[in-house]
Amino acid sequence: MFVYWKTRAMIFGKQSVLNSAHSVEKYESITSSQKIEIFPYLKTNLSGNERVCLDFGCGPGRFTQDLATLIHGKAIGVDPIHELLDLAIPTTDVEYYLLKKGKIPLPNNSVDIVWCCLVLGGIPEVLLPNTINEILRVLNDDGLLVIIENTSEKLSQSYWMFRSFEFYCSLFPEVSLKKVHQYSDLGETISVMIGRKKVHPIV
Ligand SMILES: C[S@@+](CC[C@H](N)C(=O)[O-])C[C@H]1O[C@@H](n2cnc3c(N)ncnc32)[C@H](O)[C@@H]1O
Repeated sequence: MFVYWKTRAMIFGKQSVLNSAHSVEKYESITSSQKIEIFPYLKTNLSGNERVCLDFGCGPGRFTQDLATLIHGKAIGVDPIHELLDLAIPTTDVEYYLLKKGKIPLPNNSVDIVWCCLVLGGIPEVLLPNTINEILRVLNDDGLLVIIENTSEKLSQSYWMFRSFEFYCSLFPEVSLKKVHQYSDLGETISVMIGRKKVHPIV
């Protein structure tokens, strides 16, 4: 799977993170329309206390800076493909790190939000348990999980898995995920799922 993303990144650059049916010149407008579709739902779910957001599978960082700005805090982008991270622009409130061997280079309970946009659908089932454990390991108790995924009822391909909202809920029993919005992209259904990680009682 990494070879697939590496090759795509080398051929298409930042455009590689979009559905390849979109034309090259539309990168900015598609990203803007995704922000218009998704950000209002993130905003209404913020408590106002969030200071650190993880952009998991950030690619070239299409959303990372805006996430930091939105919470008036810091955003950290991680991705396993350094060719994509090389296209991302670090700033005073945004850092990028390479994801090596599936391990997020952050301590336990260290982020207030995990934002994961169109990433899980590209991860095969066998790698999902480690990915989910890592996401939940770094997310604070009561932290916000934001999953944006293609939930179209279509046959999966070798590099992209179409999975249902119910499937994503089952991956995160520790989070009360709700589908807060859905929109259409090239006739496919993109779902915005948001929930908070349950608080573990201190024993
Ligand atoms: C469709 S792109 C989306 C990128 C970014 N979230 C965005 O919306 O612009 C999928 C991203 O997932 C990353 N990725 C692939 N396998 C991954 C894994 N096992 N863990 C984390 N990220 C992964 C890819 O490198 C790529 O950047």
